Amino acid sequence: MMIYMKKMNELGVPVPNHKAYVIRNYKDVRKDQRERALIETEYNMFSFPADLLTLDFLSDSGSTSMTDLQWSALIHGDESYGRNKGYYVLLDAFRDVFERGDKPEKLVDLILTGEDDVDKLMNKIYLTSFEGGFVNGGVHQLTRPNTFIVPQGRVSEYLLFSTLAEVLSEINPNRKYFILNNGHFDTTGANIRAVHIEPINVFNKTVVLEPFPYKDMDLRNPFKGNMDIKQLEEIIIQKGPESIPLIYTTITNNSVAGQPVSMANIRVVKEISDKYGIPFFFDACRFAENAYFIKTYEEGFNNISIREIVKEMFSYVDGFTISLKKDGLGNMGGALFLRDKGKFVQKYSINGKNIGIRLKEKQIVTIGNDSYGGLSGRDIMALAVGLQEVVKLPYLKSRIGLTQYFSKKLAENNIPVILPAAGHAVYIDMDKFFMETDMKIEDFGGVGFSIELLKHYGIRACELGPFAFEWDQRTEEQRKGILNLVRFAIPRNAYSRSDIDYTVAAVSELFKNKEHIPKVRIARGAELSLRHFQTGLKPIYK
Ligand code: F0G
Repeated sequence: MMIYMKKMNELGVPVPNHKAYVIRNYKDVRKDQRERALIETEYNMFSFPADLLTLDFLSDSGSTSMTDLQWSALIHGDESYGRNKGYYVLLDAFRDVFERGDKPEKLVDLILTGEDDVDKLMNKIYLTSFEGGFVNGGVHQLTRPNTFIVPQGRVSEYLLFSTLAEVLSEINPNRKYFILNNGHFDTTGANIRAVHIEPINVFNKTVVLEPFPYKDMDLRNPFKGNMDIKQLEEIIIQKGPESIPLIYTTITNNSVAGQPVSMANIRVVKEISDKYGIPFFFDACRFAENAYFIKTYEEGFNNISIREIVKEMFSYVDGFTISLKKDGLGNMGGALFLRDKGKFVQKYSINGKNIGIRLKEKQIVTIGNDSYGGLSGRDIMALAVGLQEVVKLPYLKSRIGLTQYFSKKLAENNIPVILPAAGHAVYIDMDKFFMETDMKIEDFGGVGFSIELLKHYGIRACELGPFAFEWDQRTEEQRKGILNLVRFAIPRNAYSRSDIDYTVAAVSELFKNKEHIPKVRIARGAELSLRHFQTGLKPIYK
């Protein structure tokens, strides 16, 4: 195991990585005002007005503070309907990051520096041709479309699974299908269920909940987000490979306490996917943070750059969905990629129709023309620059360093935080938090905790447990894949150690007074899909 972090930083405190030139002051909101807002929004965390909060850990998605380079790129945004100039440099930035390793072209720089050599622009950007990877270019993107820009991650999931379901019903309308994932995100699972395919989570719950000494966090990482290989093969054999349209690995594994996935695990899943002829996909949200864990903690990667690690990770998959709202890429965006002529494309281009053409038809009808995909030209430019920013080591080190600091402080205060720290968030184990109280899993203690944290301290966190994952609506078998967690997702480049110190003090105070945390009942909409976004709740105070 590596001791890389120690070597990088002899002072034992992180080297600062950025400064703020624009700040937003908070309003001075009183507890009784927050209480009133909670009542009037039915105690639903997603419905609470953000402007009344002190700290917001609801999500790291789209909540990033962009860099000055990203802000300055916005002004170059091209709002043309067809083939805006940002489209070309965004596609090439995808090639840079997912395929070129240490040899990026950084074509966006030509736009940002006002290159006016027309031949150069035509030869390097507008009329280039690519094929064979995730991002066809020129005529190949027209005849075999394989890159689909969309407004956010879940749209790429919708596009993929609604189209795949059509193809599967043409192959065999009567078969029951399953998608195997190391941990489906909530929208991912919901998009799969919506087309009557069953999502199955394939991780090792015992491993995830295993204690880990926080003092070891700098030294090693057990990659608890890994796909459980034994279970994976058992399920493939039990259900039959023809019932499994794809295997899906989420990096990092958000629903499984945000834990990273090792390169070794990715390689084995790739072998299994080849053995059974099942296409292999990533849910690539937070790929850069996952690469940082591989570099820092996985044997053999210490001297390999983040860019090269990312390239290797993606070399194993046949396609991926991604939310570009994560990893500090930007505030809005998503995409779906298929490997040109890869396993997925070959298997599902049936009845004389390329699967990419089917996807593109749906993209145009529902989302937008392929060159903007529902995004503004400004968003596209910010993303083209963001892709180059997030693979920088000092940024990732500072980003994950803050999450590790947060986890360590909670652990020092005996709060049952899942260790080691994830990349984007801190997760508290609510089963352990409420030990020695009469809180049961169906009392949604994590929700009660979040309500109290918001009411008393103006801090918003999010339950990702029996309430969000619909415990009461699931079978005994499905319940095994649900953890009882509360998540604090950290917006990128927005918060500092003092924000974390305030939060740790607030959580510790609630921990001391856990007997007074209310049980929670669902007052409205228990049966709604993705109910945590929309149901009404009622805390039961003693
Ligand atoms: N996959 C994973 C692993 C995610 O974490 C998310 C979003 C999505 C897909 C969907 O992407 O939001 O752009 O549509 N996660 C956010 C979160 C919302 O707070 O964890 P999206």
